Amino acid sequence: MKNPIAKVLVPVAGLGTRLMPATKSQPKEMLPVGRKPAVQYVVEELQAAQLNQILLITGRRKRSIEDHFDSEPELIAALEKAGNEAALDDLKFLANGAAQFFYTRQSVQRGLGHAVALGKEFVGSDNCVVALGDSLIAAADPSAPIRGMMAAHMDLGAAAIIAVEQVPPHDTHRYGIVAVDGAAPPPGEPIAVTNIIEKPPAGTAPSTMAVAARYIFSPAIFDALERTAPGRKGEIQLTDAIAALIRMGQPVYAWLLPPDQRRYDVGNFESYFRTFIDFALADERYGYMVRQYIKAKAYEL
Ligand code: G1P
Repeated sequence: MKNPIAKVLVPVAGLGTRLMPATKSQPKEMLPVGRKPAVQYVVEELQAAQLNQILLITGRRKRSIEDHFDSEPELIAALEKAGNEAALDDLKFLANGAAQFFYTRQSVQRGLGHAVALGKEFVGSDNCVVALGDSLIAAADPSAPIRGMMAAHMDLGAAAIIAVEQVPPHDTHRYGIVAVDGAAPPPGEPIAVTNIIEKPPAGTAPSTMAVAARYIFSPAIFDALERTAPGRKGEIQLTDAIAALIRMGQPVYAWLLPPDQRRYDVGNFESYFRTFIDFALADERYGYMVRQYIKAKAYEL
């Protein structure tokens, strides 16, 4: 069956200031998580969901992302000549799927909403997915949340479906938080969102359901973004544009990730280390070795 959505925006323009000096000259999205740079997981998740037109919204010092996804016939030919099957296997992602990559640059740091708005012409009158380039989904099938959300989006004719995850109450100030009527929804079922607030001050969050880096939008989001004034930190917040959609009476839904589909990110060192460790532990080639090492190490701690 043809995918109802083909276009996806992947914002990767953030400066990575919380990851200095590791991100002084390289994008945070290129930090390795196990054997791959973080953003490769995101692209593979999108390809698995047959989202084949990928616009990466980059910025200064982000050129290595473009190089990473560029096919490199000379390198492949040299590896073939040398009979280096292992390296060829590791570079298979370059030939995977029918994905086309597009790039645009956000040259001023005006926020996530501003970055997404740069995709307006690319998306046109289609629906689109937004996947934050520093956030990974760990699951038996990492494309499951997006595929479920796309199906729900089509059924509901929604203006937006937002993946959310449960976070501890003391962490709500780090995320966009959604409000719903009544109790938290069952995982994997859309529930109407009545409000959404970007990083509410401690103690003021309307729930513990945090925006989890994957969104589906109708083109209405671009009109809402155009009308969104700078908010938190003087930046145009995607969350504020979603709140505007809700105020306009547009249908906006949350999609709670089940416990076996987890979001990870490389936005700060704490979450980066956690992400690296969990993905290394789950690595099909090196996971066993890492587990043995950590078990032995745990005795020394
Ligand atoms: C962004 C969004 C926030 C969301 C978070 C994780 O924040 O603005 O609403 O909860 O990603 O998906 P950031 O982590 O870029 O500060």
